[in-house]
This record gives sequence, structure tokens and C-alpha cells, in this order.
Amino acid sequence: MSLKARFEDREFIADTYALARGQQASKRLELQHSLYEHASQKHLANAGLSQGQTVCDVGCGTGTILAHLSQTVGPTGHVYALDVSQAQLILAQKKASRLPLRNITFIQEDITLPCHLERESLDLVYARFLLMHIQTPEKAIHVMKSLLKPGGVCVSQESILEEVHASSPYPAIRQYGETLMALAAFLGVDYNIGRRLERLFEEAGFSRIKIAYHQQPLEDLALAKQLLLMGLAEWGPKAIRAGVIKGYELEKLRKNILDLPEEQEGASLAIRQAHLIAWK
Ligand SMILES: C[S@@+](CC[C@H](N)C(=O)[O-])C[C@H]1O[C@@H](n2cnc3c(N)ncnc32)[C@H](O)[C@@H]1O
Repeated sequence: MSLKARFEDREFIADTYALARGQQASKRLELQHSLYEHASQKHLANAGLSQGQTVCDVGCGTGTILAHLSQTVGPTGHVYALDVSQAQLILAQKKASRLPLRNITFIQEDITLPCHLERESLDLVYARFLLMHIQTPEKAIHVMKSLLKPGGVCVSQESILEEVHASSPYPAIRQYGETLMALAAFLGVDYNIGRRLERLFEEAGFSRIKIAYHQQPLEDLALAKQLLLMGLAEWGPKAIRAGVIKGYELEKLRKNILDLPEEQEGASLAIRQAHLIAWK
């Protein structure tokens, strides 16, 4: 391998985000959002999201929930959409340009580093499927807390990927999960972070915490398959380069997923999630 290729390989592996960014990520994030939209909106309502608030969507990705945040805080409120990735922010910005209100500001920042947003300026910070991709989630939580006004609220939603409940023991889904877990271990991130979310926020010194666990069954197996295949196309190349799966094994896994039934009486798939609300 040439020196340049070796350097690029190290950079590729050093990036702890296993998924795609920009256009390749957009459709999957939208499909995923369509599944969790209702629960996320309810979670935000429970945390008191309302008119006139200043809020931040941390790790906003391609902006799946910005329309809801923008509309709910209204013309007297403001939304900051923060992501470390420029490719994600470009798509989020494009989407937001079609919204009726002009109350969103986009910020490219790494939330584990000191943030340029004013300290104690936010009523609410929202982060969905963010901490699972970060090696030092404590640092991200510390920065998010510093941005909240006293009494402000942090709303977090994370998965427990190992707790996938399927109506039948599909071996392809088990192997998919095991490969993802091996990749997470290699990258030094925790795809089961939902399990320790409460403890992480307690250790960060929030005054009050409310946690609930949800298992939203996905009965549309064709959609589940589509999401699995899209995810595989995103994290697969990284898993190969990380050495947690061989190219031919990944191809076999892809075929096994393709072979999963699309319609089956009473079939469902559910991933456990933790929904946390923490008051500063
Ligand atoms: C799985 S996506 C979720 C996007 C969005 N929250 C949603 O639910 O549709 C995670 C996002 O977090 C961003 N991200 C990862 N690490 C980050 C960091 N350290 N600071 C800010 N954003 C980060 C990624 O670029 C990606 O857009």
C-alpha cells in the first residue's frame, strides 16, 4: 500500500462516524425519521418545547426534525441546527429554505469541543442518535449543558442496538447486529448507549432526569429491509477496512438480508430506545 493510501486509510478509520453523510445519508435518515417522528415529537412536547423558545438540534444531520422545531418555536423563537459535517448541513439548509419561517441558524461545530454558541442561552437542546457516534459522550453532554439556561432542558434519544426484538429469530439480522457491535468496538463508540444514558446525565450534574424506554415495532418488513440494506451500504466499507468483516462475508450478509421475507403474518422488528429529559 502506498504512503498516501495508508494515510487516507488511517484518516478513514479515525473518523468514528460509521455512516454516510450528505446525499447518501439523506434518504435513510428521512425514512428513519418517518418511523420515529411521532415518538420524537411527543418526547419534545413532554420536555416542554413551545412557542418563543430558543433551541438547538445537536447533530441535526440532514435536518429531519427542523421543520417541526421551527414551526413549534414559531416566529418569536429560534432554532440552531448544529452538526460537525458540512455535507449534512448543506442538505439541512436546502430543506430549511423551503420552510415558511426564517428562524433557523446553521452552525458547523464538533459538540465535544468548546462551542461558539453563547453559554446559558438555550431553553432546550435536542440530540437524537448523536451520542452513540461519539467516543467521549460525557464531553458532548457537558457542552450541551453549558449552553442551557438555568432550568433549561436537554432532550436525548438513543438506541440500544443489541436489544432488537424480532418476531422470528432471523439469523441475518443477528449477524447484522453482531457486525455493527464489532465495528462500534473498533471505533470506540457505543451503539448501546441508551442503556447508560441516565447515568451519563446524572454524572453530568443535571438536577432532575426522566427516562422512558420505548420499543417501537416496525411491522412493514419491506421497509425494515430497505433500512437495513441502506445502512449496510453506508457502514459496510468501513467495517471491511476495520477488519471486522471480509468483503465476501459482507456480500453474503447483504444477500441474506435481501432474502428476508417482505410480508409475514404478525411479523415485526423493534429496536429498544431510551428517551431522556434532563433539567439543568
Ligand atoms: C445518525 S445522524 C442523526 C441525525 C439527526 N439527529 C436525525 O435523527 O435524523 C448523527 C449526526 O450527528 C453528527 N455528529 C456526529 N458526531 C458529532 C459531533 N461530535 N458534533 C456534532 N455533530 C456530530 C453526524 O454528522 C450526523 O449528522
